[in-house]
Amino acid sequence: MVDQIQEAFASLYSTSPTLFRSPGRVNLIGEHTDYNQGFVLPAAINKELYFAVALNDDERCRIHAYDLQESVDVSIASFNKSEKGWANYVLGVVDQLQKQGLEVGGFDCVFGGNIPRGAGMSSSAALECGIGTALNTLFALGLSQEAIAKLGQKAENEYVGVQCGIMDQFANVFGRNNHVIKLDCRSLAYEYFPLDIDGYKIVLLDTNVSHSLDTSEYNIRRQQCEEGVHILQQQGLDITSLRDVSPEEIGQHQSAMDPVIFMRCHYVVEENRRVEEACHFLQQHDLLSFGKKMYESHEGLSNQYEVSCPELDFLVAQTRAHEQVLGARMMGGGFGGCTINLMEESVVEPLTEQIGKAYHNAFDLQLKVYVGDIVDGTSSIP
Ligand code: GLA
Repeated sequence: MVDQIQEAFASLYSTSPTLFRSPGRVNLIGEHTDYNQGFVLPAAINKELYFAVALNDDERCRIHAYDLQESVDVSIASFNKSEKGWANYVLGVVDQLQKQGLEVGGFDCVFGGNIPRGAGMSSSAALECGIGTALNTLFALGLSQEAIAKLGQKAENEYVGVQCGIMDQFANVFGRNNHVIKLDCRSLAYEYFPLDIDGYKIVLLDTNVSHSLDTSEYNIRRQQCEEGVHILQQQGLDITSLRDVSPEEIGQHQSAMDPVIFMRCHYVVEENRRVEEACHFLQQHDLLSFGKKMYESHEGLSNQYEVSCPELDFLVAQTRAHEQVLGARMMGGGFGGCTINLMEESVVEPLTEQIGKAYHNAFDLQLKVYVGDIVDGTSSIP
């Protein structure tokens, strides 16, 4: 794949590019907690975007999306949002760099890779942080990894219009081979946990659907959580986010809250606790209990937070009869995309085939299966 990107670059431009790789991410547990200043447990995976980037002297920003065979060519001094959705992730990053007063000149870029789009593996963060890292390197901007992650998030918030949290960009930049990252989304303090899952694999089952609700519903969930915080503050709680609230505490204020708002907030505070518990189980090598937390997380996402869909629920339900699957749940924003499964290595093939058939019978859709290995975060390729 890297070779193809390099060849495409050579056919379009005459300069010699620097190469970068930028991974997708999985999240073991801690969903919709990041924008509530809570905890998440993501990792970078071996589905990646590759970039070939070189500076040019003519103040143009030329980007070619290899997989889509589409290009944009804009003046670096003045550009607007593009009609091509993918281009806004790149232009959004350039825009953020400029807003920070950093000098960005012209550059030529070809990118492409194998992170499935719309599958909840965060190809968008890979694009943002991949280009952010490339420009930081080539223009010697001196940004830290944390600054690049934040920049990617801001580009998505302001330029693309999704009010996402920091998880995806953070995992993309800070990923470490065979480790998950426990991230405190308030302080951005993080801790690596070795993912010792000998005999098990992280398996992603891709529904192959992406219900169009996702952006609007995502932003609505965020507002509902903020509304919950506001009510709890009015109730006299000294809090700034749902991160500060325990499941017990919120239970005491249920009657003051609209039932839907309560359900959303209750899910978030329970999920935060689940991340803490899951990390404890991981340290104890108690994968069985860890997996149970994943199932609980899915229940909450489906019934309380209501961001699942029939296809995701079906895939999770299919695994329940098999003790070789320790845990399964929907992953990412929801309304389609993947489930993440902790599955015994020896059954991955037969079991995913069986589930694939059942899925096809139920929805007339093709199941896609990815076995995720945990890799390092974005880097240049020597
Ligand atoms: C998307 C967002 C993340 C996070 C997840 C849900 O992937 O980009 O910031 O909120 O959804 O956990």
